[in-house]
Amino acid sequence: MPNPWLDPERARTWTGEGRANNPLRQEQADVLLRLSAESHPRSILDLGCGPGEIGERFLARFPGAAWTGVDEAPEVLERARARFEPHAGRTRLLQSPLQADWTEQAPGPFDLAVAVQTVHHLETEEKHVLFARVLSVLRPGGLFLMSEPVQLEAPQLFGLYRALLDHARQRQGFEPLPPGYDLDAFHEQLERNQDRLETVADQLHWMREAGFGPGACFWRHGNRAIFGGARPE
Ligand SMILES: C[S@@+](CC[C@H](N)C(=O)[O-])C[C@H]1O[C@@H](n2cnc3c(N)ncnc32)[C@H](O)[C@@H]1O
Repeated sequence: MPNPWLDPERARTWTGEGRANNPLRQEQADVLLRLSAESHPRSILDLGCGPGEIGERFLARFPGAAWTGVDEAPEVLERARARFEPHAGRTRLLQSPLQADWTEQAPGPFDLAVAVQTVHHLETEEKHVLFARVLSVLRPGGLFLMSEPVQLEAPQLFGLYRALLDHARQRQGFEPLPPGYDLDAFHEQLERNQDRLETVADQLHWMREAGFGPGACFWRHGNRAIFGGARPE
């Protein structure tokens, strides 16, 4: 599945901030940071780091930590490089598809691995391999947290998810969802963005299969979730 950010125009202009289709982004980032603090991170791996919006928040929140970002898209990494110039001594950027074996360049051990709005671009089989690789670069007890859009548990629930998204949009001052935004429109949007959503339950199960300890969903709003687990001690 080609990564849509390999399109230079998208890579140069994309920002996760202030987007109506994810009015919960700031809240999710806040929760992710709070959960991450539990791993007392001194080394952080950010998978699909993009232009570094989230990475910047990690650097500010954990001033002693070293941060490594992995992303495939050259123009996105260019933006991250410019953003992190003042922090060059504690940041590292690697260009690699997540499907490749990036662990040779980033062997860790990391206290914390995060992925924000990234893993859902991978095919199911690729997610299995990714989880095993993440486990291999975490220190024992190290934490892996994903903040991702996830699959609806059943299509019949779409109306309820839609109501929640609409509520969050309006609370943040965005336009209400258009009346035509139905299940078909939702699926078309996923196709357009090349999103491969999976349920939280499946992904937690695959993490266990990869060798992680018990995991959980720590935050959920509609089809947005923060979930993960730790490498056993
Ligand atoms: C929605 S952006 C999120 C960026 C960042 N995590 C954030 O939240 O600000 C998705 C990022 O994942 C990267 N990405 C998507 N598929 C990828 C893949 N197969 N390998 C490496 N990076 C990938 C894209 O290049 C893009 O930078």
